[in-house]
Amino acid sequence: MAKNEDIFKKVIAHAKEYGFVFPSSEIYDGLSAVYDYGQCGVELKNNIKDYWWKAMVQAHENIVGVDTAIFMHPTIWKASGHVDAFSDPMIDNKDSKKRYRADVLVEDYMAKIEGKINKEVTKAAKRFGESFDEQQFITTNPRVVGYYEKIGEVKKRLYPAMDENDLAGIKKLIEDLEIACPVSGSRNWTDVRQFNLMFATQIGSLSEGANEIYLRPETAQGIFVNFLNVMKSGRMKVPFGIAQIGKAFRNEIVARQFIFRMREFEQMEMQFFVRPGEELKWFEYWKEERMKWHLSMGIPAEKYRFHDHDKLAHYANAATDIEFDFPIGFKELEGIHSRTDFDLNAHQEFSGKKLQYFDPELNENYVPYVVETSLGLDRTFLAVLSHAYTEEKLEDGSERVVMKLPPVLAPYKAAILPLVKKDGMPEKAREIMDSLKMDFMCRYDEKDAIGRRYRRQDAIGTPYCITVDHQTLEDNTVTIRERDSMKQDRISIEEIVRIIHDRLKA
Ligand code: GAP
Repeated sequence: MAKNEDIFKKVIAHAKEYGFVFPSSEIYDGLSAVYDYGQCGVELKNNIKDYWWKAMVQAHENIVGVDTAIFMHPTIWKASGHVDAFSDPMIDNKDSKKRYRADVLVEDYMAKIEGKINKEVTKAAKRFGESFDEQQFITTNPRVVGYYEKIGEVKKRLYPAMDENDLAGIKKLIEDLEIACPVSGSRNWTDVRQFNLMFATQIGSLSEGANEIYLRPETAQGIFVNFLNVMKSGRMKVPFGIAQIGKAFRNEIVARQFIFRMREFEQMEMQFFVRPGEELKWFEYWKEERMKWHLSMGIPAEKYRFHDHDKLAHYANAATDIEFDFPIGFKELEGIHSRTDFDLNAHQEFSGKKLQYFDPELNENYVPYVVETSLGLDRTFLAVLSHAYTEEKLEDGSERVVMKLPPVLAPYKAAILPLVKKDGMPEKAREIMDSLKMDFMCRYDEKDAIGRRYRRQDAIGTPYCITVDHQTLEDNTVTIRERDSMKQDRISIEEIVRIIHDRLKA
């Protein structure tokens, strides 16, 4: 098993064992690509939301928030293009009856070749030792060169076929590569068809005449259709932004990779309305701002990269993704798109209502252009969680698993621990717990030896452990243990709140 795959499995197991993420409906064998957040997960998730909201809404005087409904008028999804074009190419295996995303089958085929390249490189590195030159090896070793050529040939057929919606071409590629169903092992495939990712449901009782509506596949449209309401009621002046955090639903065909690709997930989106012609300046501004936000969590810069889009969607004139180095490789975390006036224009056309802004400086009406920042909350959670997961060997030979979460995001900020369960220590610890719990999320724990209790807090990422010992009863001091360094300081009880506040801000 590849090292990263191994780490990914450990993160998933840890997330379940310590109450971060559970498979949904587990006692009924689960529901594919749907997950529940547990007692620690919900705290971490709320803290991420709060961290984003503060940076986007609280810190920007010209950005306000909304919380719009999941159900919306079905014509909205006609106007946005989702009814006609929000689909993935799918293919079924006739023997296993399993459904796959056709492009992902081909991508998996290429990933297998990449795996072979990695094996060759690892073998050669072992053989040549210090003198190994990886660049030279991959450009001259005939087997590796052959593998790269094969990948190149496949890409040359797959990407144009995807761009041109050439479904027969994608099927032919799957046949030519002799790709077999991972379950049945057969190559008995149906034709490739487009599969719309929106979930549909009925609104109203049948006797009233049921209407088909959709669960929203993105939160953005709730912002666009409220553009006028917010602009007028909030007396907003361009440039201004509207932010929203909320659920989105997509009937993903490839349902795996834990919370990376879910059927029900949350987005944190912001639409920034600007003067036409100024959108590329604001696109650059938001690109930089959003990267700064990610880095402010303390995760190293090399874990992030931009992926600028070469081929733009018909409504965009610039687009980039912020990618994160997940245990499954560099993948999209956030999209930043300059969406022109596409959405507001489309809603004007379909609703018949004017969606314009009167610019007092220019003395003219126009449909503003939009720069969007769209971040997946669950993917941010996964990025933070997988980066935090650390296995450590300690000086005394023991081992610990510690979640090195940014303290500001940690589910609990402090644990209050009486050293032993007697001599008045639990009572004193309870007093401290009561005095702290409205300031921070805290845990009280008196069960088991103190070392085991420290490990339990390490495993959920609690940055500070406050221990009440014999000395506490004499001079009102406690020890404060820092999670990552495990260093302990003695401080007075009155100082606990200030010290934790100061350290969380640092
Ligand atoms: N309004 C633009 C929009 O929705 P997107 O690239 O489709 O753009 C934005 O989605 C973000 O939402 C992605 O960068 C990703 O973080 C998150 N996301 C999309 N599909 C997801 C899924 N199935 N599961 C989890 N997160 C997802």
